[in-house]
Amino acid sequence: MKAYKDLAPSPRTIMTPGPVEVDPRVLRAMSYPILGQFDPEFTALMNETMGMLRQLFKTENEWAFPVDGTSRSGIEAVLVGLIEPGDKVLVPIYGRFGHLLTEISKRCGAEVVTLEKEWGSVFGTEEIAAVIRQHKPALVALVHGETSTGRMQPLEGIGQACRETGALFVVDAVATIGGIEVATDRLLIDAVIGGTQKCLSVPAGMAPITYNKRAESKLQSRKKIERGLLMADSEEDPLLRPIQSNYLDLSQLQDYWSPARLNHHTEATSMLYALREGLRLVLEEGLDARFARHREHEAALVAGLEAMGLQLYGDPACKMTVVTCVEIPDGIDGESVRSMLLDHFGIEIASSFGPLKGKIWRIGTMGYSCSKRNVLLTLGALEAVLLRHGHELKAGCALQAAMAAYGM
Ligand SMILES: Cc1ncc(COP(=O)(O)O)c(C=O)c1O
Repeated sequence: MKAYKDLAPSPRTIMTPGPVEVDPRVLRAMSYPILGQFDPEFTALMNETMGMLRQLFKTENEWAFPVDGTSRSGIEAVLVGLIEPGDKVLVPIYGRFGHLLTEISKRCGAEVVTLEKEWGSVFGTEEIAAVIRQHKPALVALVHGETSTGRMQPLEGIGQACRETGALFVVDAVATIGGIEVATDRLLIDAVIGGTQKCLSVPAGMAPITYNKRAESKLQSRKKIERGLLMADSEEDPLLRPIQSNYLDLSQLQDYWSPARLNHHTEATSMLYALREGLRLVLEEGLDARFARHREHEAALVAGLEAMGLQLYGDPACKMTVVTCVEIPDGIDGESVRSMLLDHFGIEIASSFGPLKGKIWRIGTMGYSCSKRNVLLTLGALEAVLLRHGHELKAGCALQAAMAAYGM
C-alpha cells in the first residue's frame, strides 16, 4: 500500500491578488465541530453572517448571504437569475474579468453589447452612462476592481443611468470588498458579488452577495420550487421561464437563508464558520481603518518599487490600492524571477493573463497579507532576485524608500 506523507504545506508569504494568507483566527474557526444545518445554533450563525455582510456591503438590503462555491459561483448565480434568454446586457470591458461577465451573460442567453477599453485604463462614468441611455439594456454588468490590470472603475452615476432606463446594475466587487469601499446603496447597485480569498482573507469556497428588491422581484418572477418540496396538489405555471440553474437559483437560495429555511443544498458548515470569523475581523478593525491600512501598505510598496527603478504598469489615476502591477524589465525572464522568489524566499507574486502575460507582475496587498512585514520582505527579496538575474538597479534604495514611507 502506498504511504502518503502527513500534510505539511510550506510557509508562504502570499503577495498575489488572491488567494492570500488567512488570519489564524479564521483557520481556527474552520476546525470547530460541525453543527447540523437546521440546528438553531447554526441558523443563528447564518443570520449573524447576513447582518455582518450588510455592514460590509454598506446596504440595507434584506438579502446578503454567501453562495457556496468560489466568487465565480456568485457571479453566475446573479447573472443566471437576472438574465432571461434574449435580454440585452451591456458589459463594459477593461480586463479579463469583464470578458468573464460577457462569457457568462452569453451562456445565459443574453444579447451582449460590449464596450472595450484598452487594458491599463478604465472608462469615464459618463461614457458608460451614455451607452446605457443609447442601448437601454435590461442589465449592466461591470467589474469594480480588475485584478488582471490592477485598475479600479469609478461607479458614480452609472446606477443613476440604470434607474432612468430601467436596467439592473450588477457589480463584480470580488477583488475590492473588504479592502476598498463598496457603497452598494449609495451607488444604486442592484446586485453585488464579493470574494472571500482576497481582501477578506478567508479561503476560497464562498461568494458573498447582496441584492435589492428590484433584483428580487426579477428572481421571484422566475421562481420554481423543486417538485419534491411542493405540496402534492400544487400546479406548475406552464408560462414560467425558470432560472436555468438549480444549484445557483437565488430564488431558492434566499428561501434557505430566510426564516422559512426551505431545504436546498447542504450548507458548507466550516466555510460558514470561516466567513463569519473573517467578517468579525473586518468589523473589529473597522471598515475605514481597514481601507486606510490597505492604502498605507500600498504606498510603501510603490515607493520601494519606484526607488528600485521599476516601472509601474497602467494609468496611475485609476490604480487599485490592493493590486500593484509592475512592468517586467526588458531582458528579464518574469517566470524565472517568480520561481526564485517562491523557491528560495517562500514569497509568491503573480503573473498576468492574455495580452499582459509575460509583460507584468502583479503584487497584491490584500487582507491579512497586507502588512509592513510582508511589504518589506517582498521588496528586499525582489531586489536580491533581480540583481541575481543581472538586472541593473539602484541597490539598497527600495527598502529605504519603503521604510521612509512607513516613517521608520
Ligand atoms: C475581479 C474578479 N472577478 C472574478 C474572479 C473569479 O473569482 P474565483 O476565482 O473566486 O471564482 C476573480 C478572481 O481572481 C477576480 O479577480
